[in-house]
Amino acid sequence: MTPRSWLFIPGDSEKKLGKADSTGADALILDIEDSVAPERKAEARRMTRTFLEDRAPGARSSQLYVRVNPLEDSALEDLAAVMPGAPDGIMIPKTYDADCVRQLSLYLDAFEAAQGIERGTTKIIPVATETARAALTLHSFLGQPLPRMQAMTWGAEDLATVLGASTNRDETGQWALTYRIARSNLLLTAKALGIAAIDTLYVDFKDDAGLRASCQAAAGEGFDGRIAIHPAQVAGINEGFAPSEDAVAHARRVIAAFDANPGAGTVGLDGKMIDIPHLKQARQVLALHDSIAARD
Ligand code: COA
Ligand code: MG
Repeated sequence: MTPRSWLFIPGDSEKKLGKADSTGADALILDIEDSVAPERKAEARRMTRTFLEDRAPGARSSQLYVRVNPLEDSALEDLAAVMPGAPDGIMIPKTYDADCVRQLSLYLDAFEAAQGIERGTTKIIPVATETARAALTLHSFLGQPLPRMQAMTWGAEDLATVLGASTNRDETGQWALTYRIARSNLLLTAKALGIAAIDTLYVDFKDDAGLRASCQAAAGEGFDGRIAIHPAQVAGINEGFAPSEDAVAHARRVIAAFDANPGAGTVGLDGKMIDIPHLKQARQVLALHDSIAARD
């Protein structure tokens, strides 16, 4: 199942790592990048590796990803430190285009061979809009198969920094147009590739109602999950990206309506026309519902 909630944990925080197993997050992102001060990177690598080694693949309550530093920074040192712990995946920040993911994939081929991990096991999730160039080259992902990449996400904070922007919001408090474009293109790119689209973080971690409304809207648009920065956000995200009881009941009725009319391409339900796209959508809703039920 694609993780719905992806909770960041600074890789050098003993206290936060100590809470990791009880958060209920589908995935944890052990961070060695921007939540760790430069002088703490080495410690973060060591602690992250120990954390992974203490939780063997197959016996993990959450999928365990590591956010490494950018490729031109210390990604190789980070990978050398954490790959012995066999992380489920690597999050790569501040990419420029699909070639960055291709290069990371080749690195992972080598690290997997060195560790005796089956080739292709380690997944990749790029943060694919954190540089201006990245936001303009999302189409580069459409040209080449990147089988390790099972999800993509986007970020608005670093993009604002490289743009020299003082805010990434408009006067209504929504994402400003530049960030909405990046977010929509990310969604379209991920879906064109048939992989999961993960929405960026909701910064106000005390605003549960706001988070839930925002997750429902994102799920309605087609996003499959969301970054969390605080354990208090996990439940809202997990619920926001799971089909509601009403949605599941409606999907069952759509399928029943087609079952009752064999051979029909369109039928009426509650006075409204439903056709094949509705049937496909209903099947997707039930498949997602079943995969979440199987996990929980
Ligand atoms: N993972 C695990 N535990 C966390 C956590 C996280 N991401 N964020 C907070 N906690 C723990 C705290 O340690 C605290 O524990 P305590 O009750 O034993 O003191 C408890 O949850 C409540 O935390 P709270 O006091 O509400 O927040 P805070 O002020 O300690 O921390 C942040 C706020 C934003 C600094 C913190 O949530 C954090 O580090 N988030 C991740 C940041 C990150 O990785 N960013 C990079 C990606 S953008
Ligand atoms: Mg960042």
